[in-house]
Amino acid sequence: PDAPARATLHADTPGATYDRRIFTQFAEHLGHGIYGGLWVGPKSKIPNTRGFRNDVVAALKEIGVPVVRWPGGCFADEYHWREGIGPQAKRPVKINTHWGGVTEPNSVGTHEFMELMSQLGAEPYIAGNVGDGTPREMAEWVEYMTAPAGSLADERAANGHKAPWAVPYFGVGNELWGCGGNMRAEFAADETRRYATFIKAPAGTKILKIASGANVDDYTWTETMMRVAGEQVDGLSLHYYTIPGGWPPKASAVDFDEAGWAETLSEANRMDELIKRHSAIMDRYDPKKRVFLAVDEWGTWYAGEPGTNPGFLRQQNSLRDALVAAIHLNIFARHADRVRMSAIAQMVNVLQAMILTDDAKMVRTPTYWVFAMYKPYMDATVLPIDIAAPGYGAGKWSMPAVSGSAVRDKAGKVHVGLTNADPHRAITVEIKLDGVNAATASGRVLTAAQMNAHNDFTAPDAVKPAAFSDAHIAGDTLTVTLPAKSVVMLDLQ
Ligand code: AHR
Repeated sequence: PDAPARATLHADTPGATYDRRIFTQFAEHLGHGIYGGLWVGPKSKIPNTRGFRNDVVAALKEIGVPVVRWPGGCFADEYHWREGIGPQAKRPVKINTHWGGVTEPNSVGTHEFMELMSQLGAEPYIAGNVGDGTPREMAEWVEYMTAPAGSLADERAANGHKAPWAVPYFGVGNELWGCGGNMRAEFAADETRRYATFIKAPAGTKILKIASGANVDDYTWTETMMRVAGEQVDGLSLHYYTIPGGWPPKASAVDFDEAGWAETLSEANRMDELIKRHSAIMDRYDPKKRVFLAVDEWGTWYAGEPGTNPGFLRQQNSLRDALVAAIHLNIFARHADRVRMSAIAQMVNVLQAMILTDDAKMVRTPTYWVFAMYKPYMDATVLPIDIAAPGYGAGKWSMPAVSGSAVRDKAGKVHVGLTNADPHRAITVEIKLDGVNAATASGRVLTAAQMNAHNDFTAPDAVKPAAFSDAHIAGDTLTVTLPAKSVVMLDLQ
């Protein structure tokens, strides 16, 4: 057998908090992300509560969704909030010009989205319209949602919600470098300053403003935003998708070989370098790290599922996606001092989704299970871990075979998340535990016989966490054998 990989867990030098908002979800008016996937309307035969599917809401509650970003994405910069309030029958039916050219009934508007937040127990992250909206329209939306009194508050009450809603997070547009208006960085930064000026929280409340950030490695964008608009905002976003084969997305979600596996996981690992370099720029303008980095779009992007509308971004989700998710969640731990929010794209039926639905059927994806396994990380303290692992992959698509992270939760329990990217070999890791007082390790593993194993409506539990016992502690050393192509979450006691 190969010599074990070695690691040290530095529980005696704890790091930042692993912010629960790293588990934020993204729900855009795109394909069946909202309509069909979350919202079926109160008259549907599919069991629902005030229009939202009971099965999907219950599954999302299990993973403790803390925040949902809505209504886009690209959709946000063409969204006019007034079209989504008032009697359903009077709401205009528009064309969703970004996503499939289908009709947008505006059935889910502000009140319905806030209803979903209350059912989920999640906080709203509203993305405002900078693209084809005005500062006044944005300001009035904020006032409509949050004001305790005044004519917009009266209108909100007449529409069924007397009490103001809390809006803790507000995005100042989305992808202003692209679908949000094709702006150049200087112009976008000036627009951000202008729009942010008019996003005002009522007395005693706070709205954190998040600027539209860079695409992938556009470091000039981050530099310009921080220099010009950094003082006007609380967060800056970053979007990076894992796209095997590059843009436009063309690779299959399930029909891939080992080269496709290695490329995808290696591209997921790129998130580490991107965060390092964007953070270094932010450090120059904001050494105290007041402005957080919100990686509010990440995940895999493949060719659409055969037979579906290509504008709906519907894709299957396999064990490979589970590894991608865990690799990202491990990377975010390393940068938890700056990355205090992230949002995988997207929550239901779109891109790297938690949940897939087809009419009344629903399935939890392998990515869902990774989020379930990492749930104890929410608001826990990051414990730095150094791992010296063998390499996996070849050439451009090589990476350390093992990725990992660790936290100590509020009850004092230590959790260690590990992945083994090698699809052929189990890897034993010996982890020296500095400052951990624990005698046993138990946990869960997510793996499958095939790299492309996935859950569908005929086999909804093909990929599901199982109890894991191949870990033990002797003295100050935790020894764990990670099965090939696996995600393991250990609890130390
Ligand atoms: O998540 C799909 C799209 O990807 C979003 O609408 C946009 O922000 C990004 O380009």
